[in-house]
Amino acid sequence: MTMESFIITGKQRLEGTIRVSGAKNSSLPLMAATLLAEGTSVLWETPDLADILHMRQVLENLGCVIHLGQDRQMSIDAASLRDFEVDERLMRTMRASNLILGPLLARCGRVRIAMPGGCAIGSRPMDQHLKGLKELGVRIRETHGYIEAAAERLRGADIYLDVPSVGATENIMMAAVLAEGTTRIHNAAREPEIVDLQNFLNKMGAKVRGAGLDVVKIEGTKRLTPAEHTVIPDRIEAGTHLVAAVMTQGDIQLENVIPEHLEPVIAKLRQAGALIEVEDDRMRVRHEGPVQPVDIKTMPYPGFPTDMQPQFMAMLACAGGTSIITETIFENRFQHVDELRRMGANIRAEGRTAVIRGTDKLEGSFVETTDLRAGAALFLAALAAEDVTVLEKVTHIDRGYENLLEKYQALGAKVKRMTPHHP
Ligand code: EPZ
Repeated sequence: MTMESFIITGKQRLEGTIRVSGAKNSSLPLMAATLLAEGTSVLWETPDLADILHMRQVLENLGCVIHLGQDRQMSIDAASLRDFEVDERLMRTMRASNLILGPLLARCGRVRIAMPGGCAIGSRPMDQHLKGLKELGVRIRETHGYIEAAAERLRGADIYLDVPSVGATENIMMAAVLAEGTTRIHNAAREPEIVDLQNFLNKMGAKVRGAGLDVVKIEGTKRLTPAEHTVIPDRIEAGTHLVAAVMTQGDIQLENVIPEHLEPVIAKLRQAGALIEVEDDRMRVRHEGPVQPVDIKTMPYPGFPTDMQPQFMAMLACAGGTSIITETIFENRFQHVDELRRMGANIRAEGRTAVIRGTDKLEGSFVETTDLRAGAALFLAALAAEDVTVLEKVTHIDRGYENLLEKYQALGAKVKRMTPHHP
């Protein structure tokens, strides 16, 4: 990982328009789902991100032929898969590579992947993925950090998830579409990305119903055919920009958003004093004066999203009072606390709870990105801080935010990227 940094001069009021990119967390399962059909599918609006490039490498490693058109439409030809195994290095770099499990089992009946490693925010187990696949008739062997899975024929089942896991719901959906009989996933994740996957699978000829609710029903079919699909906008990118407007007392117009995907975020921002106008696929957010403290408890969708927790902590660090944040989804998602404290934030974290006492200003500092959304939080804090902040290891941010610097320079931010020149 190169030591690229952002140099950010704070206190610039952001004003103008940002077009939100396609959702990373929808593009990744949709790319995996193209493995289910022997032919060429096309995905529109997949964002130009490191994680998307990574999933492309995983699919090409399996034998897919992928092209990116001049309008960034991504064509994926999955007609002839040469392998059911993915190179370990590729697997370990990105956890979401595990989304090939379901489609490969449905398509080839076999798959061998390295257990994806944990990451900064938690151990990220896969027990719910494996539990669901076993109930569809998959035999699974876990040896020396590898998962070997095989099934002559997948058969539908009633599956009860212990936790509403996004990835497990997606993997089971993608396995069940070619199983014999009906599958119901109970306690399914309800995120908009699950609905987007259902819509794409049904365009391929699948029969999936109920995504977005807590029971997803899949009637197995014999074959699927390639399809075209436009990825939904990235609700977490959009939420991050809303917080940026509040933190810089700015006035930002967002284009290409689905407001109902952001309801808990909009509600909390309004509680903090933001002025938010919603109209079709656009939103306008303005803020003047102090940020009001608010309490946040992350929950599975449609609750407050864990992926917006670090960004809100940065905002509440500058609020006019004390806020409490409870992180119920991941066991270690407070990596940004120490770095925010280096900037003068008054935060105390105990277990899954953090108490944030708002200060009237943050100081520019040298800070380090530990994971994607922690990086986003520090980026936002730097925009609001006095003086200059050097934010290091920004390749984490490049995983989830397309053209971030360009988008913010257009709003008046003074930000630039610094790549160390090796002598
Ligand atoms: C997806 O990860 C997102 N990633 C994450 O976004 C997001 O934070 C997360 O959902 C929760 O919303 C993608 O969609 C690519 P989970 P995923 O399985 O599917 C536990 C970002 O910043 N769990 O819903 O891996 C797990 O430990 C990323 O874009 C099990 O116990 O999340 C966690 O505590 C970060 N067993 C909770 O469930 C399992 O088998 C939620 O995990 C699976 C998960």
